[in-house]
Amino acid sequence: MISLKGRDFISLKDFSKDEIDYILELAFHIKKRHKAGGDNPVLSNRVLAMIFKKASTRTRIAFEVGMYQLGGSSVFLSPHETQIGRGEPIEDTARVLSGYVDAILIRTFDQQEVEDLAKHASVPVINGLTDLYHPTQIVADMMTIIEEKGTLKGINLTYIGDGNNVAHSLLIAGAIMGMNVTIATPECYGVKQEIRELAESLKSNPETILRYVNCPFEGAEDADVLYTDVWASMGQEEEAEGRRTAFSGFQLNEKVLELAKSDAIVMHCLPAYKGQEISADVFEKFADVIFSESENRLHAHKGIMAAVIM
Ligand code: CP
Ligand code: NVA
Repeated sequence: MISLKGRDFISLKDFSKDEIDYILELAFHIKKRHKAGGDNPVLSNRVLAMIFKKASTRTRIAFEVGMYQLGGSSVFLSPHETQIGRGEPIEDTARVLSGYVDAILIRTFDQQEVEDLAKHASVPVINGLTDLYHPTQIVADMMTIIEEKGTLKGINLTYIGDGNNVAHSLLIAGAIMGMNVTIATPECYGVKQEIRELAESLKSNPETILRYVNCPFEGAEDADVLYTDVWASMGQEEEAEGRRTAFSGFQLNEKVLELAKSDAIVMHCLPAYKGQEISADVFEKFADVIFSESENRLHAHKGIMAAVIM
């Protein structure tokens, strides 16, 4: 029997296919109960600390609400109003918080900071986004693909845009879960070589295809799922204008959609900049899928917390 109690959730690479299936099953079970009107308070009296060094709407609210619905509570820690922003070492923050709370969520820039927090904390640490990864997002995305397509195995997912944290986590998920992933980016904005190698090494099925192209049209052919994200991530605000030029041919629009399978769906982790990475008409055409993807953050987070804390 699988138990993930006490485990950190800082990258999908640390989990086997069976363990990710277990988290997904738990999240679907929790979602079903929630929709039926009664969450089981499995995290009663448990507390989640949430450190956010970057902005957030979905991640923060879905963790906070999820914790409350499972019977627990959360404490939001802004670096500006705690000693974190005044330079208290992360290893000390880790040990202090471990004496108060049952898990720590962190959104920050450097993946190493999350690793350091996890190393020194005696409670589970959850990665709520770094420059390198966004694993909690991808659990919600996998739920959405399963709901829409019935499976992950053999699905062709094409990500169009920047080779960023979301692209990295999608690649790793694809490798482990047997989903073919194509990443279409401008040449200078591809995913990191180390992530390509890592994803290749994590394949659970040698037939899974992980592919990299520099043309959105080439990538879109035969896709079951088209996915995009912002062209300038948090922390890249100063590059935004240059990126708009570099990515101008990489918009997810009707022309791209026409090349995908006729029943293809469009996904976006949000926030979206309509008219940039996605056209307004394609966004609205798939708004039901996109907002069910964002709702699934709530159910996914509850699944992750129940798995590592309970
Ligand atoms: N998709 C996502 O992580 O959204 P937030 O930045 O609003 O948390
Ligand atoms: N790549 C984006 C994701 C936002 C949820 C960012 O890091 O800003």
